[in-house]
Amino acid sequence: MGDPRVDAIAREARDAAAAAQSAAALEQVRVTYLGRQGLLTQLLRSLGTLPAAERPLVGAAANEAKRELEALLETGLAAALARERRTARERERPDLTLPGRRPPLGGLHPLTLVADEIIAIFAGLGFSVAEGPEVETDYYNFEALNIPRDHPARDMQDTLYLTDDTLLRTHTSPVQIRTMKAQRPPVRIIVPGKVYRRDVADMSHSPMFHQVEGLAVDRAITMGDLRGTLELFAREMFGPRSRIRFRPSFFPFTEPSAEVDVLCFVCQGGGCRLCKQGGWLEILGSGMVHPHVLRNVGYDPEEVTGWAFGMGVERIAMLKYGIDDLRLFFDNDLRFLRQFV
Ligand code: PHE
Repeated sequence: MGDPRVDAIAREARDAAAAAQSAAALEQVRVTYLGRQGLLTQLLRSLGTLPAAERPLVGAAANEAKRELEALLETGLAAALARERRTARERERPDLTLPGRRPPLGGLHPLTLVADEIIAIFAGLGFSVAEGPEVETDYYNFEALNIPRDHPARDMQDTLYLTDDTLLRTHTSPVQIRTMKAQRPPVRIIVPGKVYRRDVADMSHSPMFHQVEGLAVDRAITMGDLRGTLELFAREMFGPRSRIRFRPSFFPFTEPSAEVDVLCFVCQGGGCRLCKQGGWLEILGSGMVHPHVLRNVGYDPEEVTGWAFGMGVERIAMLKYGIDDLRLFFDNDLRFLRQFV
């Protein structure tokens, strides 16, 4: 290049750049020759101390060496970075021979599990599942079920009205009406679903909860059939030693009506905390379908009879699992929910 000092530094720098394998090593070369204290930088800075005749030649050679080194470092850096990216990719490449990680499986909500269990028991007796809308009309929720205008259940306190005529159903019983209007007897249905009441949530109340309704209508259906069916249900649900009792009650859509209790399965009737010393646990409301209701759906009460029952899924689940606060079902606390998976 014409100047031995410049040539020596330039050659040394080229060799160093060629030997540098990594981006970090190349940077080191740059600093050594082109940095603020770099050898080429210093040389260029000291041009003024040279005899005037030498300056142009040495200056041109040094600048040429600087450009050459910069170009060399640039291509070297691009290659080094590509190399480093490639090895990083290889290092991170998944080992396909490792056993796979199982995706975490969700579980069914305890209320779904209990409702499914109730349904399965009745499905085994030939009942089929029917469903209906949660937004109902006054007619299906009350009127057709023989609930008169002045019945306390119609009070604004209990029912969530959407308009004068539409409401959130307060029970699953309107599905009785919808089903009977849609088909001729015999009818055997089991109806799971959400129901709504104007309640503030506490240990035993929720503005939304779940019911399962049962309905059987045919020729010569009797209260004995109801009793036998519910006895079987109680044994399947609460254990083979379960017993039930009927207590006279009142529902506008059944006559006679009965509240059904199951013998406390913790103390077998002796009295304990679960049954509050009473020995029995209330599990559902039931009765013989009122003749007015049968007539409302176009059935002839002289020809067919039927029974119906309605139970709260939360209540059954709380009894079965010893849960003392209804709100646990709706908090979605995984520590609670995982116990049922
Ligand atoms: N629908 C009633 C309730 O919500 C329960 C019931 C259903 C009672 C069917 C008798 C017959 O309380």
